[in-house]
Amino acid sequence: MATTIENFADLPLPEQMRMGLRRLGKAVAVITAWHGEKRWAMTATAVSELSMDPPSLLVCVNRNASLYEPLSLRSNFCVNILHSDQANISQACFGDNKGEARFRLGHWDSAACGTPLLREGQANFVCEYQDILEYGTHAIIIGRVDEVRICGDVDPLIYLDGCYTRACPLAPEGTAAQGE
Ligand SMILES: Cc1cc2nc3c(=O)[nH]c(=O)nc-3n(C[C@H](O)[C@H](O)[C@H](O)COP(=O)(O)O)c2cc1C
Repeated sequence: MATTIENFADLPLPEQMRMGLRRLGKAVAVITAWHGEKRWAMTATAVSELSMDPPSLLVCVNRNASLYEPLSLRSNFCVNILHSDQANISQACFGDNKGEARFRLGHWDSAACGTPLLREGQANFVCEYQDILEYGTHAIIIGRVDEVRICGDVDPLIYLDGCYTRACPLAPEGTAAQGE
């Protein structure tokens, strides 16, 4: 049954947008970088595949976030997709934890370029910095994917309606979903 939100149309546009985006489930990633002899990390959901030729990704980073500095200075980066049991790593990589404290959970390796990789991540995409586009409060950073690793079963951590959750198939494996 359809749910209606009272006075939705009267809310300011940013609030309407926030409420709309709560319905956009996104896999949770930690974006990492190695810059100035330091490791950097930030929890992010604004991550997207860009093209397969060349293999590339984009990430959207607030210009007030600490990760913006290394990326705006053309640092390479890694998109580490989290497993559903890694909500604690997501929580460690934003907010009051800063700098090296964000690496206190999990096992972190380094790519050849020094960029940190989460060993138990669902997937790691090591990217070479390509370009940046500043827009409003954020910057879109494009990276060419140089290396991909995957680990374990396919069970990503999802952020939906302000909570962490996980994906579950609509039909048991091998069964055609309704309408197919
Ligand atoms: C689930 C989740 C997703 C987030 N996604 C993004 C994102 O895509 N881009 C972004 O700039 N900040 C995002 N944030 C917010 C940053 O992680 C947070 O503001 C961080 O503390 C900023 O970095 P700083 O503390 O190093 O300045 C997200 C936070 C959470 C909890």
